[in-house]
Amino acid sequence: MTELVVFGQDEMKHYLQLFAEAIKLRLRFHLLIEGPPGTAKTLAVNRMIASLKREMDNVPYIRVTGSQDALPSDLIGDLDIGKYRAGEMDILPGPLFRAHGDGIPGIVYADELNRFSEYTLIIFTEIMAEWQVSFPKTPLTKPLRANVIATMNPYDLSGITEVPQHILDRFNARIVVNYPDKETELMIASQHANYYYKKFTSRLKSFFSPLVSTTRAMRKIGVPLGPRIYLSTLDMLALELSSNGFIDHDTVIQHYENAMRSRIGNIEEDKQSEFLSTASIALRGELGERKK
Ligand SMILES: Nc1ncnc2c1ncn2[C@@H]1O[C@H](COP(=O)(O)OP(=O)(O)OP(=O)(O)O)[C@@H](O)[C@H]1O
Ligand SMILES: [Mg+2]
Repeated sequence: MTELVVFGQDEMKHYLQLFAEAIKLRLRFHLLIEGPPGTAKTLAVNRMIASLKREMDNVPYIRVTGSQDALPSDLIGDLDIGKYRAGEMDILPGPLFRAHGDGIPGIVYADELNRFSEYTLIIFTEIMAEWQVSFPKTPLTKPLRANVIATMNPYDLSGITEVPQHILDRFNARIVVNYPDKETELMIASQHANYYYKKFTSRLKSFFSPLVSTTRAMRKIGVPLGPRIYLSTLDMLALELSSNGFIDHDTVIQHYENAMRSRIGNIEEDKQSEFLSTASIALRGELGERKK
């Protein structure tokens, strides 16, 4: 099966290419990518890393995902207690050291960077500035030769930290991505269907445009719906076709509403119902129009 490709998002793809080039030239280069959910940040980073790995077989790499509960020691490790008892001071290295490169620098991919607490974020500063880590409350430091690529969604409603300026400062560039145009979104829907359930694509095709248009209309009134809403609706429609053999408009609307519910769960109840009914009216209109 051919791989999923990233349509559009040229600026992000270009900077990711520069990031890969910096690894090859052994240069320090750190990149921050910001954007709303479902703008292919993770997909584009994964594509870049996969292609770098095809070119060079040993690129040390680790992906970590931001969480308020992660302590620095969860990432960098801690004093080796066994050795400490024997009178020696050493570190039991944490997962981040898997990204340490001896020749070329490795890659730390910090997904959802702004979900780390400010306390934990500090460790990224030293890695980026000096390719090393100091262990809190000890005199110990360890080299960690790795470039950092971080992604985050600054529009999330809860559980995020404002990334302090001194950390932002360490990134060579901060790229902002947004939702692509309608043509591109139709390609995203089509690629998804072809990739995961080719056999049903021809029967799902007529729903691409209504689903994409409704999602775009909802965004316009301030509901942050990414491609995942229509992609997971398509998944459910493919499952319907596979298990029941048919779908009608009510089924499409039902699945769309439920896909949407999972995204707006944090908004107050009244607003949720309002958004859901607006979306179902819009989608019904879009579906109706296509019958003409
Ligand atoms: N420009 C695009 N080209 C191709 N596929 C896309 C594009 N944008 C979104 N997609 C589809 O949407 C899915 C979600 O994208 P991805 O997980 O990369 O988003 P993200 O930006 O990392 O979002 P989040 O902030 O929620 O982590 C992708 O797996 C892909 O199927
Ligand atoms: Mg992501």
